[in-house]
Amino acid sequence: MRLIIAVDGPAAAGKGTLAKSLAAALGLPHLDTGLLYRAVARQMILKGLDPAADSGEQTAQALQPEDLLRDDLRVPEIDRGASSVATQPPVRSALLRRQREFATASGAVIDGRDIGTVVFPDADLKFFVTASAGVRALRRYQQLHGTGARDESALSALTAEISARDQKDAERPVSPLRQADDAVLIETDDMDAGAVLAHALSIVRSRFPA
Ligand code: CDP
Ligand code: CDP
Repeated sequence: MRLIIAVDGPAAAGKGTLAKSLAAALGLPHLDTGLLYRAVARQMILKGLDPAADSGEQTAQALQPEDLLRDDLRVPEIDRGASSVATQPPVRSALLRRQREFATASGAVIDGRDIGTVVFPDADLKFFVTASAGVRALRRYQQLHGTGARDESALSALTAEISARDQKDAERPVSPLRQADDAVLIETDDMDAGAVLAHALSIVRSRFPA
């Protein structure tokens, strides 16, 4: 079935994890749209441009598929750079076409901030995945540093960075982070990734029995 499923939510809510596992379970391609903004920020920095001050339009237009495959896109400088370029309307327009082309051929599970509101407002199904700020910061911390002894000052710095980025994403005038009116809200504070997937799959199967 050529379903288009949107997964939106704030940083470290588990959007990517859910979208990837849902796509695998349903045999659909997966697109993590955060990587597009991250790759634009990285290319700009390499060119000596400042994602917070310079236009990223040409960089977004010239983006190549292999630019998304790098393993150095999830570093703090690029977290901040991505959320800065993401406020630029010409960058968002350049990336919009790529996101729509990705999903229209065979359907897809796509995660980001504005998938259910702007990129695919008519998606077959929309999830908004969230958790409290503290839980999300701890998830990102453990993703980066493992579950061993905790460095409380590093955790509080990460909590502040995530909160600042969420606020910027939610308050920008273009395509802000918000739950679409018709999205299914999944509050994941007390759910592990497997429970979130099982819940999402049960909703997919009840809506699309075939
Ligand atoms: O894509 P997003 O930034 O929303 O989050 P993620 O990178 O998919 O997930 C952040 C971390 O939380 C990963 O280490 C997941 O394994 C973990 N996690 C989750 O995804 N879902 C839960 N319900 C609980 C933890
Ligand atoms: O994994 P995490 O949730 O930390 O971030 P991400 O999904 O990789 O997104 C990085 C940044 O790109 C976000 O903070 C947003 O500013 C921006 N973004 C966006 O504006 N729209 C999207 N559809 C996806 C990401």
